[in-house]
Amino acid sequence: MIEIKNLYKTYHIGTIAVEALKDVSLKISCGEFVAIMGPSGSGKSTLMHVLGLLDRPDSGTYTIGGKEVQNLSDQQLAFLRNRLVGFVFQQFHLLPRMSALENVELPLIYAGKIRLKNAAQKRLEEVNLSDRIYHRPNEMSGGQQQRVAVARSLVNDPLILFADEPTGNLDSKNKAEILSLLQELNRKGKTLVMVTHEPEVAAYARRVITMRDGVIVSDKMNKPDPAGIVVPDADSCVESIMDKSKRDPGGIKFLDYIGRRFSPWSLIR
Ligand SMILES: Nc1ncnc2c1ncn2[C@@H]1O[C@H](COP(=O)(O)OP(=O)(O)OP(=O)(O)O)[C@@H](O)[C@H]1O
Ligand SMILES: [Mg+2]
Repeated sequence: MIEIKNLYKTYHIGTIAVEALKDVSLKISCGEFVAIMGPSGSGKSTLMHVLGLLDRPDSGTYTIGGKEVQNLSDQQLAFLRNRLVGFVFQQFHLLPRMSALENVELPLIYAGKIRLKNAAQKRLEEVNLSDRIYHRPNEMSGGQQQRVAVARSLVNDPLILFADEPTGNLDSKNKAEILSLLQELNRKGKTLVMVTHEPEVAAYARRVITMRDGVIVSDKMNKPDPAGIVVPDADSCVESIMDKSKRDPGGIKFLDYIGRRFSPWSLIR
């Protein structure tokens, strides 16, 4: 479903250039559960942001669902990102004044979808939070907040879920809970890419990619893919999304907002 070839990404700060990705090539198929490991600064988040259409590489090709995306406009990328990709971050990034239900509804509102409450509620039930839908983030435990973030990431039914250190702020019980939830989603067919420092977290994935200094240094299978897994047809999905983007440019604003709102860079700025 995803294929990147010879990706490079360099950050420039003043006169200093940091080569965050150096000639990275990679294929990820529908239904995989991939962990990206490596020391701090090795380029894991940069790779995830490029794969998740939050950031652009300097050079190289990126094909998703058979469609080359590196030359799409920012608007088209935002449109694809909104419909194709879900994100879960280490710091949850829930809006503090909103209930769990409202947080999960947010992507739907921006996508202009109507049956908000039912869809959001269903996702919260799937992450076992039906009894917390009116709680605000500060009225929930860290694990519960991260489950709300997982529900939010799923509400537009993305093809791929990206999680950057999703258990980094959780104790071991909540960590195991979130990882089992992610594993269950994968068993149901969701493609997952998870960044982690920890080998015991990566052990939940079926494939482990290790990076060092902007390069992939190993790519190994932990466990075979289970038989009978139902994976979506990514190619036709991407085509239909692109067709829709020509007819419905209004939806772009929403995704763009969400992308910016929840991208780590927006929090640093
Ligand atoms: N927006 C940015 N501007 C400048 N340099 C950046 C930016 N983002 C990342 N870098 C640099 O690029 C390199 C790769 O960063 P990246 O965030 O991808 O690492 P990482 O493997 O995710 O690390 P960590 O495990 O600490 O999260 C680092 O050296 C980092 O300092
Ligand atoms: Mg990182």
